[in-house]
Amino acid sequence: MNKMLLIGAAVMVAVVTVSAADVKENWEKNCTKCHGADGKGDTKMGKKLEIKDFTDAKYQASMKDEEMLKAMKDGVKDGEKVRMKAVEGLSDDDMKALVKFVRDFKK
Ligand code: HEC
Repeated sequence: MNKMLLIGAAVMVAVVTVSAADVKENWEKNCTKCHGADGKGDTKMGKKLEIKDFTDAKYQASMKDEEMLKAMKDGVKDGEKVRMKAVEGLSDDDMKALVKFVRDFKK
């Protein structure tokens, strides 16, 4: 195999690892407990924590991508109280894909 083919194959693998199915799986595994499958936060945990509705365009407009990423990386705290734990076991790319996924809830 020549070099170009090898590079091409590597790029394809990289794309496949953050495919839509994986993002959805990550979302369902790590986030729906609180944020709900539909992103509305209409869950027992979500209600308790008063989670914001990700389908709300106004809320989406108020959030920057970097802030969403930070919420996943560092968690969300209210003073000393942890509201959302930092996400574990996901790569930067996984989290970036999740930011996009959350954006897509916007109606
Ligand atoms: C233990 C419950 C819980 C889990 C699990 C959880 N979150 Fe959150 N999340 C919260 C709470 C509480 C907030 C802060 C309240 C708010 O602003 O809606 C929040 C806020 C956010 C925000 C916005 C940050 C902000 O400052 O408003 C994003 C984006 C987010 N979560 C994404 C995710 C993603 C993606 C996952 C899964 C990888 C996830 N959350 C898992 C509870 C959770």
